[in-house]
Amino acid sequence: MNKVLVAYFSTSGKTESMAEFIAEGVRFNGLNAIVKKMSEIKDPAQLAGFNGYIFGSPTFSLDIPWPVKTFLKLFKNGDLNGKLTGAFGPYLHDSSYHHADYAPDKILDLLQKDYKTERFDLDALCLREDILETRDGMKACQDYGRIFGEKLNK
Ligand SMILES: Cc1cc2nc3c(=O)[nH]c(=O)nc-3n(C[C@H](O)[C@H](O)[C@H](O)COP(=O)(O)O)c2cc1C
Repeated sequence: MNKVLVAYFSTSGKTESMAEFIAEGVRFNGLNAIVKKMSEIKDPAQLAGFNGYIFGSPTFSLDIPWPVKTFLKLFKNGDLNGKLTGAFGPYLHDSSYHHADYAPDKILDLLQKDYKTERFDLDALCLREDILETRDGMKACQDYGRIFGEKLNK
């Protein structure tokens, strides 16, 4: 059975709730989705044995928060070669919204460049935090996970 790690960093619970909905979506197709806070993963061995990885991070100052950058350094060269990766996260301000400015997109760029990952077709899922409270927000997360799972099962 394909196994997916959903690892997230969250300060006020928004990224955490996205992580749970995304994992639900992954499970729709019978895949095993494990949800973990990045701070619970200290040993690179905990990152082994997954077929796909989905990383959750809020945007801080139009960048990836440092605990997320530190977490990503646990991966060694080659660990993620050819692995399917997705990323997601909430943000607050969309007045100057450019996908590429938000942490989830930056995470996928970094992983693709440094670890030769396979980028998920749907790219990163960035949601304004108030949308998360709505049914549409929940569904967007579940759909992201579901389509990620379908792609892995192919
Ligand atoms: C230090 C800090 C910097 C932030 N910088 C941005 C930003 O540049 N752009 C933005 O849209 N939101 C920014 N935010 C808002 C968070 O991305 C947003 O509230 C997010 O939903 C928090 O997710 P969490 O509850 O999972 O931590 C910032 C929040 C903090 C605490």
